[in-house]
Amino acid sequence: MILKKKPKIVAGLDVGANSIKLLKMEEKGGSYTLSALGVKEVSIDTMVEEEIKDRDALIFHIQSLVDQVDPKIKDVAISIAGHGVITDRITMDKKTGIEAEQAILFEAEQRSPFDVEDVTLDYHIIKIDEEANKMDVLLVAARNEYLKTYLDLINECGLNPVVVDTDAFAIFNAYGLNYQPDPSKIITLLNIGFDTTNMIFIKDGIYHSTRDVSSGGRAIFEAIMKEFRLNQELALKVIKGEMQSSIDQDMLKATVIGASDELISGIEIGFSYFKSSAKVEDIDYLVMSGGGALIPYLSEFVQSKLNIPVELANPLRNIDYDPEIFKEVQPEKIAPLLVVAVGLASRKVV
Ligand SMILES: Nc1ncnc2c1ncn2[C@@H]1O[C@H](COP(=O)(O)OP(=O)(O)OP(=O)(O)O)[C@@H](O)[C@H]1O
Ligand SMILES: [Mg+2]
Repeated sequence: MILKKKPKIVAGLDVGANSIKLLKMEEKGGSYTLSALGVKEVSIDTMVEEEIKDRDALIFHIQSLVDQVDPKIKDVAISIAGHGVITDRITMDKKTGIEAEQAILFEAEQRSPFDVEDVTLDYHIIKIDEEANKMDVLLVAARNEYLKTYLDLINECGLNPVVVDTDAFAIFNAYGLNYQPDPSKIITLLNIGFDTTNMIFIKDGIYHSTRDVSSGGRAIFEAIMKEFRLNQELALKVIKGEMQSSIDQDMLKATVIGASDELISGIEIGFSYFKSSAKVEDIDYLVMSGGGALIPYLSEFVQSKLNIPVELANPLRNIDYDPEIFKEVQPEKIAPLLVVAVGLASRKVV
C-alpha cells in the first residue's frame, strides 16, 4: 500500500513597505475557503525599497499579526521582488530531465547580471515547442544576501519559511485560481505596491514574462501628507477614503495625479519592453491589484493615461469565506490588496 502524504497547508505572508498581509486557506476537492486573514499597516520608514530599516519593528508587527490572526500559524510562504530578484526569459533547445536542468543552469550562469556565487538560481519551463524542438524557460535569480536577511527575520518571528516565491509568481497564481485567461487576449497583471510595482504579462493564456519597477504608492502617500499637512496616520485615513467629508476631493485627485508621473513612466517602459520582446502591438487590458488599485482616482488615471481598459483584481472571486469570522477586516473591501498573499497561500508543500 502506498501511503500518500497529505500536502501541508502554508499561510501566505506578504511583507510590504506599507502593510503586512497574512492569509490562510483550507482546500477541499480543489475549492478553497479562507480561514484566516489579517492586514497590518507599518510605519513608512520600517522598510524602504525592500531594505529593512527597522528590523525590531517589523518583527514585532509580524508577530502581533500572527497572534491576532491565528497563533497556531508556523509554516509560511513568503515572496521576494524588486531589487532582490531578477527574472529573465530565454528560449533554448528542448531537453528533458537532468540534461535540461544542467543546460538551463549553465545558460543562467552566462546571463545573470549577478556573480553566480552571490545568487540562488531557480527556473520554470514555461512552454515547450515540440515542432521547433525549443523550450521557453523563466530564470529566477535571488540575491543571497537579501534572501538570507529576509529568511533570518522570518525565523526570528518564530515562523518557518517553507516556500520562497516571487511576488510575480504569487500574483500569477492568484489570478489563475480566480480567472480563466482568454488565450486571444494580451493581459497584464499590474500590482501597485508602496515601493515596488509588479507587471506580469500573459500571452496565449499563459505566463509570458514579468518586470518590477521601483515605484508605487509611496510618492502619492508622501504628496498627500505634504499637500494636506497631515501626519502618517491621517494620510492613511485620507487614502483609505475615511475622511472624505473633510477633504477637498478635487485637490485630492490633483495630488494623486501629480504624484503619479514616475509610476506611470515606469509602467510605460515596462510595457514597451514587453511589447517589443513579445512582438505584440497592444495590451488588451490590465488587471490592477495591490493597495495601489484602491488609491482614490489612481485606477481611472492609469486607464486614461495608458489608454488601456483596467479592471480591479478580485483574488477572492473563487474563494469561499464567512464574512462574520473577520472582525477587523472586510475582505471584499480590500481584496486587491490580498493578491500576493492569496497566491502564496495556495502553495502546498509535500
Ligand atoms: N485600503 C486602501 N485604500 C486605499 N489605498 C490603499 C489601501 N491600502 C493601501 N493603500 C495604498 O496602496 C499603496 C500600496 O499598498 P500595499 O499595502 O499594497 O503596499 P506594500 O505591499 O506594503 O508595498 P511593497 O510591496 O511595495 O513593499 C500604498 O500607497 C497605500 O497607501
Ligand atoms: Mg506588496
